[in-house]
Amino acid sequence: MAQIGYSKEVMEHFMNPRNVGVIESPDGYGKVGNPVCGDLMEIFIKVNDNKVDDIKFRTFGCGSAIAVSSMVTEMAKGQPLEEAMKITRKDVADKLGGLPPQKMHCSNLGADALHAAINNYWVKIGKIKPEEVKTEEGHDGEEGESCET
Ligand code: FES
Repeated sequence: MAQIGYSKEVMEHFMNPRNVGVIESPDGYGKVGNPVCGDLMEIFIKVNDNKVDDIKFRTFGCGSAIAVSSMVTEMAKGQPLEEAMKITRKDVADKLGGLPPQKMHCSNLGADALHAAINNYWVKIGKIKPEEVKTEEGHDGEEGESCET
């Protein structure tokens, strides 16, 4: 069966996802949904010395979303929070060797859930106020892409 345009990295992370699971009593927690397909991603972080000490994800979603979750957790692990906050949707997709055009916005959830978890931590410790949390834009099929499985 043809693997329509999926890169080696996407297939590898889909088959062997890293950092799957839940962290009990996380320091930061982020949950984002994709309104187009209803897929859902949660990210849990533990913070130590202002770095992402541990990170886990739970994704109810398509194979691309799982590969994206796995990759974003690998990219963020060990990073200072400010650096992890700079990881963009595009960085994740690029690191996965790209996604087929109709799956591109499956890559949105990863960076968004990571940012949500960091913001959650920053609000908890009083670094930012809840109203200062910027909501990510373009969840809903930017550039008119569909989100079909
Ligand atoms: Fe919903 Fe990929 S994230 S189909």
